[in-house]
Amino acid sequence: MSKGKLEKFKELESMSNVFQNHRFDDAVVVQGLEEVEVKGRWHEIFGNHNPIVLELACGRGEYSVQMAKNNSAKNFIGIDIKGNRIHLGAKMALEENLNNVAFLRTRIEKIQSFFNSNEVDEIWITFPDPFPRFPDRKNRLISPKFLDIYRQAFCDRRRTYHLKTDNYGLFRYALGVLDGRGYTIQTCLEDIYHYDKKISDILKIQTYYEVLHQNQGAKINYVSWTM
Ligand SMILES: C[S@@+](CC[C@H](N)C(=O)[O-])C[C@H]1O[C@@H](n2cnc3c(N)ncnc32)[C@H](O)[C@@H]1O
Repeated sequence: MSKGKLEKFKELESMSNVFQNHRFDDAVVVQGLEEVEVKGRWHEIFGNHNPIVLELACGRGEYSVQMAKNNSAKNFIGIDIKGNRIHLGAKMALEENLNNVAFLRTRIEKIQSFFNSNEVDEIWITFPDPFPRFPDRKNRLISPKFLDIYRQAFCDRRRTYHLKTDNYGLFRYALGVLDGRGYTIQTCLEDIYHYDKKISDILKIQTYYEVLHQNQGAKINYVSWTM
């Protein structure tokens, strides 16, 4: 492991807004070096009863941080498996004294271990890996397998999900899966910047991968649905 990565992992242990599930085969979460219970306790952790929004595959956490900055009446939790990426968002949030954003390092497959079914209000999936090879499709965060994981984890009521992706194949795949399952699509925008001023500020937040792909000429697509 590179020295930079090791330093970031060390620093993560001193960040009050980072929760880590080190061994992905158990449900133990640590904050720093302390084991903490998070399931059913997120409102207590944030110190308020404001709605909680998840960002799945948050990477460097740009979406979570910017949404938190723009909306102090909601709490945001970025989830990713990669600690060195989360490090950046967590650092930004601490530097800006944002106390309505936190990060959870774990596998998204295990989400049910860390949230009560009624604890989360809305979910964003930002630029997930497209896994273009057909045999790998079950790893797509929008595959039927993952939709079932979300539905099981958050089974108390319907809520809104958002997907933003540069990958047109993944976007079409998502629309097919959502349609096949009969979920209600709220908004579907191909090439969001084509609509320019008509799109909401929240859709204009840009992540590392969005900028990267846009610079390579990719169009950005968005769909939201309820399930
Ligand atoms: C292409 S990156 C996008 C990151 C960020 N949303 C952005 O737009 O810059 C996809 C992210 O998904 C994370 N990821 C993929 N599968 C995951 C899983 N099963 N559990 C947790 N994180 C996952 C990866 O670690 C990676 O950071």
